Amino acid sequence: MEIRILKNEAEIGAAAGKLYVDYINANPDCVLGFATGATPVPTYNFLVDEYNKGNVSFKGVKTFNLDEYCDLPKNHKNSYFTFMQENLFSRVDLNQNNVDFLDGNADPETESKRYAEAIKAKGGIDIQLLGIGRNGHIAFNEPSDKFTDEAWKVTLTQSTIDANSIYFDDIPMPHYAMTMGIGSIMRSKKIILIATGSSKAEAVKNMIKGEVTPQCPASVLQQHDDVVVFLDEAAAALL
Ligand code: F6R
Repeated sequence: MEIRILKNEAEIGAAAGKLYVDYINANPDCVLGFATGATPVPTYNFLVDEYNKGNVSFKGVKTFNLDEYCDLPKNHKNSYFTFMQENLFSRVDLNQNNVDFLDGNADPETESKRYAEAIKAKGGIDIQLLGIGRNGHIAFNEPSDKFTDEAWKVTLTQSTIDANSIYFDDIPMPHYAMTMGIGSIMRSKKIILIATGSSKAEAVKNMIKGEVTPQCPASVLQQHDDVVVFLDEAAAALL
């Protein structure tokens, strides 16, 4: 793992964003895996700024996303599909036909197969962006007894519900989600993980310095040969 500790979220957004700009310019038809949540927002804002300056185009880019809530309409304001539209997709020249998303309302097994085949048909994910949960989850793969493989339907843990329910002001937060599995994440050619803030420090320590165990799902990244981890000083405090 390459660890890059920077001052703050803005610096990380620019550094991670620059990596994307260079990659897209060199590989205009690339396949990118995106993440939702608060962490990647500065990176998405940087990408939108670069697009507005004419420094990058998303016309040929294909996208997949890590996860989506179950029992929530696709266009609900709290769906991850809406999040991506608002924070990135509708703000750049991405072709909406090139956006693929897990359907949290489909039959989980059928949807898992469909997603795996769709990723394979596009040649695999070139760069997968990740955040990390306070409990060490990546995507919605919560601490458990085994590493998962392809996409699956997960029951969210209380830690995740506590962290994300602040976004749900009209309906209770769903307790289930469809998530890419650990195997699908690990098959990405490159992985960029961003963690900011002191609430992530313990999970970051376990990810980088702990044993590789499904009890800290992010620790599996130690076994991937091309991972860049961007941390601010607070998230890196226990290293
Ligand atoms: C989001 C995702 C999650 C988040 C993680 C951190 O698509 O899969 O694993 O990356 O929960 O969330 P934030 O960035 O809101 O702290």
